[in-house]
Amino acid sequence: MAKGSVSASVIRRLPRYYRFLRELGEAGVERISSGDLARRMGLTASQIRQDLNCFGGFGQQGYGYNVQSLYEEIGRILGLGSHRKAILLGAGNLGRAISQHMDFLSRGIELVGILDANPDLIGCQIGGITVQNVQTLYDFCTRVHPDVAILCIPKEAAMRLSRELVALGIKGFWNFSHYDLSLDYHGVVVENVHLGDSLSILCYHLSEMERNPEEDQHPES
Ligand code: NAI
Repeated sequence: MAKGSVSASVIRRLPRYYRFLRELGEAGVERISSGDLARRMGLTASQIRQDLNCFGGFGQQGYGYNVQSLYEEIGRILGLGSHRKAILLGAGNLGRAISQHMDFLSRGIELVGILDANPDLIGCQIGGITVQNVQTLYDFCTRVHPDVAILCIPKEAAMRLSRELVALGIKGFWNFSHYDLSLDYHGVVVENVHLGDSLSILCYHLSEMERNPEEDQHPES
């Protein structure tokens, strides 16, 4: 498998391949050509072949792709089979929604703790997990050793806590706070999520469509 050289845009497409392949498998499709997969996903066949060639191909001339094995391969490339422990900081509106509605286990992640600073929330149950006082963060992390921190806290709190979390062994941040965590820590990866950016991209495509009504827009590719 290619290491370190795969472009960010290819990596961003992998979860989408994974999702489509899972749905195809559930629908009983055993194999699929790159052309058919491309049509369903709104991509081109050559883009799919190029993307998958970054990891060694997987297709066979005249056969296409075996849906189940490609699904498993992409899951393996994404590292979804690993067992990682995550803590969530901030049991407010967003934190509650994420902890209750995200299917962590299918991504190899176990949500092991939820921490907050608000005394009214400490002790509450969210999805079977008791919200703990963020002041117990050190004790919790040295006992449970989580790998991932999900930040659903305000920007200032994320700025303050991120360094401490790295010192406590956190290797990956799924960061919803509007603080753009940068990669100034060796051996730590960050995925900053801004739903507002996604909405802005929708606005861009809508404006483009209004400016050029005759042109096809391909926001997904
Ligand atoms: P909220 O106010 O409902 O929840 C924030 C929670 O963080 C509160 O329960 C608060 O007690 C807790 N908190 C504050 N300081 C803390 C600390 N030092 N340690 C632990 N917990 C702490 O806010 P909401 O709506 O859940 O949003 C959370 C954050 O995410 C906000 O900063 C908001 O701007 C941001 N946000 C980001 C989005 C994105 O797409 N990235 C989308 C929506 C919200």
